[in-house]
Amino acid sequence: MRTIDWRGDHIEAIDQTRLPGEVVTLRIETVDALVDAVKRLAIRGAPALGVAGALGVALAARTGDTAEVARQAESLRAARPTAVNLSWGVDRARARLADGPDAVLAEALDILETDVRANHALGSRGARWLLDALGSTEHGVNVQTHCNTGALACVEWGTALGVIRTLHHEGALGRVYVNETRPLLQGARLTTWELAQAGIEHTLLVDSAGPSVVARGLVDAVVVGADRIAANGDVINKIGTYPLALAAARVGIPFVVAAPESTFDPATADGSAVEIEIRDPVEVLGQDTPVGTTALNLAFDVTPADLVTAIVTEDRVVTR
Ligand code: MRU
Repeated sequence: MRTIDWRGDHIEAIDQTRLPGEVVTLRIETVDALVDAVKRLAIRGAPALGVAGALGVALAARTGDTAEVARQAESLRAARPTAVNLSWGVDRARARLADGPDAVLAEALDILETDVRANHALGSRGARWLLDALGSTEHGVNVQTHCNTGALACVEWGTALGVIRTLHHEGALGRVYVNETRPLLQGARLTTWELAQAGIEHTLLVDSAGPSVVARGLVDAVVVGADRIAANGDVINKIGTYPLALAAARVGIPFVVAAPESTFDPATADGSAVEIEIRDPVEVLGQDTPVGTTALNLAFDVTPADLVTAIVTEDRVVTR
């Protein structure tokens, strides 16, 4: 099934907070419920957020109250600040409001269907680029990835995980090393779940082991997604991405970012201008933490453009 979809008069989405234990679908009938799902990461991942934003405006448009639609669109845009796809999806759907609710919904569904096609296209392009860059490997391509960039982060298939799936389908994949992605464990809970379903060999790592696995020569490439790509090519992605890029540069292996064109933000000059979401410290503070301990729960980091070997989209490969 698709991670997020439109069902006649409401949104249906997999509740990602319940995975891998249970596959529960949410029936979302109001923008307030959608904003709640986005904030608590029941719906997450940049491309899925873009679709959610657009479908949310389609939901709001059905109320017919112009002031209320504007308020709801703003609350959706503000639900999470870092992934540019969310505001992009909201704005694209909002631009059709004057044409009526059916036009807004058509725009949202176009974003949804385009995401599916984009994922497959960039998956194939990324796999081809990697195989050309690496030449033949005796064991298949061993890859390290971070967070979850799979079907769950999109509508289906995935971005970085789409590249990995394509390599697997072509019989060219070795092993996938998955960072657990603290504190919400998108790697340990979601990516492992998707890889197991696809029958792809994988090994879980604690996040801090990621760079050492690169340094030990266990992977041929690091492939990740992105929440935003600034005009200068800086890549904003899940916290823990930057150290992987440093390690890849040190060892001299490709650090590849797979993302749809909608993740580019030409209006933002560089990574320093991007608002990095700071989430509730409660997500980090365990029960064993002494009372009074504080935590800075940065959800994303910035990988400078010069550490990125290639950005692969549905349309092109940008290399340095
Ligand atoms: O906080 P999340 O789970 O929404 O963060 C997701 C990521 O950082 C992904 O790597 C990114 O959105 C790309 S998903 C194709």
